[in-house]
Amino acid sequence: MNSHPNHAAHAQRRQRLLASLEDAAVVLPAAHLVTHHADVHHRFRQDSDFFYLCGLDEANAVAVLRGHGAGGPRDPRFVLFVEPRDATAEVWNGHRWGAEGAMEHFGAEAAHPIGELAERLDGYLHGARRIGFRVGRHPHVEPLVLRVWAQQLERGQRHGGPSASLFDASAAIHAMRLRKEPGELERMREAARISCAAHEQARQAVRAGMGEYQIEALVEGHFRKAGARQPAYPSIVAGGDNACILHYTNNQDPLRDGDLLLIDAGCSLMDYYNADITRTFPINGQFSGEQRALYELVLSAQRQAIAAVQPGSSSAKAHNAAVEVLVDGLLDLGLLQGDREAILTGHDYRHIYPHRTGHWLGLDVHDMGASRLGDHHTALEPGMVLTVEPGLYLSNRLPVPEGQPPIPENWQGIGIRIEDDVAVTAGGHEVLTAAALKEVGDMEG
Ligand code: GLY
Ligand code: MN
Ligand code: MN
Repeated sequence: MNSHPNHAAHAQRRQRLLASLEDAAVVLPAAHLVTHHADVHHRFRQDSDFFYLCGLDEANAVAVLRGHGAGGPRDPRFVLFVEPRDATAEVWNGHRWGAEGAMEHFGAEAAHPIGELAERLDGYLHGARRIGFRVGRHPHVEPLVLRVWAQQLERGQRHGGPSASLFDASAAIHAMRLRKEPGELERMREAARISCAAHEQARQAVRAGMGEYQIEALVEGHFRKAGARQPAYPSIVAGGDNACILHYTNNQDPLRDGDLLLIDAGCSLMDYYNADITRTFPINGQFSGEQRALYELVLSAQRQAIAAVQPGSSSAKAHNAAVEVLVDGLLDLGLLQGDREAILTGHDYRHIYPHRTGHWLGLDVHDMGASRLGDHHTALEPGMVLTVEPGLYLSNRLPVPEGQPPIPENWQGIGIRIEDDVAVTAGGHEVLTAAALKEVGDMEG
């Protein structure tokens, strides 16, 4: 069924895209079901570009969008090919909108069963000087698009006239997705609200002796109770040294007295807007000296990085702000040594801080949109949303760069990350996830 019927927003986005397409037509496939094992599928997850422009939450559909210069004035601009209504299939797998529903509920000016794509695509792409299609991603649809394109090239050669070219429309779509509309920001605040509440509950529930999986269940249980679709990504619930594994998702170990617990979890709403939050706190309610020193350092780095989130700045500036604080602090603690500038330019902190400080966030957790063009970093603008997630990971897994000290044993097994979701506003920024506490005093007790 349609998950979040804000069809006006989808229609407006199509209008904006179409206005920029001129004489191009775009073929945009929906996602397919993905095999889990044998004949069992994962739960369906729509392609974010398709959902952004069409709002339809069904597998196997294909949208054709035609710019105003592609085709005649009365030709449909938005065509959907969808799975046809089918009582048996719907009994097994659930409701389908069918071609009629695609027109009635999703604003398609024409709609057909997906089985007719091969025969109808040529007609719908006729007159387009450019065909927008992302090659290499859609093995079912790609041969059909390439065949139509080849036919058009063939006709062009025989009858004269210009030939169509193939291009990737993703950049135009992702540039739109990078700048969130007010309605999208509202949805991201909702994802953040639910996810913050889950983190708060988890911290209050944690006791030594529990399993990481029990905290995972609590967090993800809250997501579902609050009406979210699912976790935005596999939740990371990592006690002690497990937190030094950046994408730890086993969540099977017992929580030990004296360790920290790192929880990186966020929900995805029914319309796929996501939150992405990390909090780290002592399992027994009391930081050790080493844990506290590192926690305060990460928190301070995060504050500086968040302060750098403002119009005209860039995610690179936020990253550099965090790295500088971390390196200064690690030098003070004796965990790095030598010349500060040499460490910064040589990245000689990478064995302790091996990742970037953030990424775009939206319909995808690692959202689309260029973070730079060559050497030019994308300037932050109001409406962009990024995570700010510095961390420190003290383990002996990575080789220590030449000239740097080995990590003493009393520091090993500490992994800390603090991650918030931050929207750029006209006056600076809004921390969407501010309701998840992170002060040292809030983490203890
Ligand atoms: N949870 C994935 C990330 O923080 O990027
Ligand atoms: Mn993240
Ligand atoms: Mn995260």
